[in-house]
Amino acid sequence: MATKTCEQPKDKGIDLSKVEKILSDYKNARGAVIPVLQKVQGEFGYLPESAIDLISERLNVSSSEIVGVSTFYAQFHLIPRGQHIIKVCCGTACHVKGATKIAEKLSETLEVSMGMTTKDNVFTLEEVACLGACSLAPVMMVDEDIHGKLASDTVGAVLQKIKESGTTQPSE
Ligand code: FES
Repeated sequence: MATKTCEQPKDKGIDLSKVEKILSDYKNARGAVIPVLQKVQGEFGYLPESAIDLISERLNVSSSEIVGVSTFYAQFHLIPRGQHIIKVCCGTACHVKGATKIAEKLSETLEVSMGMTTKDNVFTLEEVACLGACSLAPVMMVDEDIHGKLASDTVGAVLQKIKESGTTQPSE
């Protein structure tokens, strides 16, 4: 069962001088929106609202246009993301092998809905299509590492191990 979403912090501790520095390389160039957004996201891990407002002002592009661009491209994120990104596969092979139960268990264990980040900012939970490891279904990817043949009663242990070790490597 999906649990309640956690509230996301709103632009706390955003150092806008870093955004100014990025913008200084792209003086008033409308075509610079995407490279600027990429650099700002590289700096903060997402696109803070205050940064979007500043980019809007400096590049003379409305904030709503910038938000439109950032929602169009999957690479951009408007809310903070966790230290570890969990992508649960919902492709056909994984679905047949119980991916829904895995996703529900992850959501319940982490106390977040899909697309959200845990309160401690450690994990962001996302659903994706086929991860290309169908023979290991059901599968999740934590950062760059694939964890396969999951069971709903073992995902908690996988998460705990990642949290304790700080690594996402699957255990032997
Ligand atoms: S369907 Fe899940 S890895 Fe292919």
